Amino acid sequence: MSSGAQIVERCRELAGVSEDAGRLTRRYATPAMARANAIVGSWMREAGMTVRMDAAGNLVGRRPGTSALAGTLLVGSHLDTVRDAGAFDGPLGVITAIALVQRLREEGVALPFALDVLGFADEEGLRFGTAYLGSRAVAGTFEPGLLDVVDDDGVSVRAALRSFGGDPANVPGASGSASRRGDALLGYVEVHMEQGPVLEERGAPVGVVTGIAGATRAEVRFTGLAGHAGTVPMALRRDAAPAVAELVLACEAAGRETDGLLATVGRLSVLPGAPNVVPGGAVAFLDVRHADDAVRGRAVDALRARAEAIAAARGLELAWDVRLDNPAVAVDDALTSRLAAAAGSLSLPDVRLASGAGHDGVALSALCPIAMLFVRCAGGLSHNPAEAVAPEDAEVALDVLAAFVRGLAVAR
Ligand code: GLV
Ligand code: MN
Ligand code: MN
Repeated sequence: MSSGAQIVERCRELAGVSEDAGRLTRRYATPAMARANAIVGSWMREAGMTVRMDAAGNLVGRRPGTSALAGTLLVGSHLDTVRDAGAFDGPLGVITAIALVQRLREEGVALPFALDVLGFADEEGLRFGTAYLGSRAVAGTFEPGLLDVVDDDGVSVRAALRSFGGDPANVPGASGSASRRGDALLGYVEVHMEQGPVLEERGAPVGVVTGIAGATRAEVRFTGLAGHAGTVPMALRRDAAPAVAELVLACEAAGRETDGLLATVGRLSVLPGAPNVVPGGAVAFLDVRHADDAVRGRAVDALRARAEAIAAARGLELAWDVRLDNPAVAVDDALTSRLAAAAGSLSLPDVRLASGAGHDGVALSALCPIAMLFVRCAGGLSHNPAEAVAPEDAEVALDVLAAFVRGLAVAR
């Protein structure tokens, strides 16, 4: 079997490790995540790495270098998923990095620097609404207050991590035990499926990322008064459902009206959620993105003002809780040029593209230089169970990654 075929096969095998029957959902610090770590850990060991889980629940496989002075290159991606996910968003990068280590071993290639393959435990933020818990711990930017964030069942990050076998008390800050601050790091390089249609349109198997768009996520809660659907007159209601509906439409309009702005309500609930009860509450999760932070900031402010006006007009209370606010992130020029040179050395077309999606590199950019390689995906489809990456394209990504680390070794 080719390496590319094995990468794709492993991604598909891992997609069977889920919290939900019949669909892939793997949230932070869940039993499904523990099973995924065990499987991926066994692949790391098979490739000759030593394996550990850090205090934040990230999986770390290590291949030592030949020179203790040469530092460490971080390579990887995330192992958590969205709800009803595809097989490749995240695992492709971790499994390709393992295939790299396997290939280096088979070819007897010694590198002066160490390779740490990282399987981040939380990139999507599905469980706690706040993304990059794993990579923030590694970057040393995990704020202590994050431990108190709770999931839908009222379980805190602290409690979830403790029952997962992590060490929450040792996660926050630059001195947390998962933090790599102070280590001699050459950078972080991530292979990720593109999650969009550009590479397919351009007929290119891979492309080099030029930057990552900024993102804001906010939980918006309208509170009114629950009542009987058959008795409370329409004029006397404090119904939260129409308020949230207005906000969803305002969000869509903002995205349509502003060039480059992506505005989504991907999670919505009316409470208590019974057909014969006037909703006393409604909660929407907003996701707003733009490559230009100022445009995103203005859009978020405008949506907040709109939510306040909607609440006031309807006699409701409003709570606006920002869960994530990440500026756009630049990739490192030198590392990115090396990645492009590696692709060029394989006679691949020089395709550069920006990332609208967020990645662990956003958090890691606070720690070390980052670079990313995107891999073509079928129909540009992602965050969808139909996600697909061709084995031949996975093989090309592996070839580029291998050429990249060899080039980096020569430069050392
Ligand atoms: C990660 O998939 C994101 O939400 O951008
Ligand atoms: Mn994703
Ligand atoms: Mn991803």
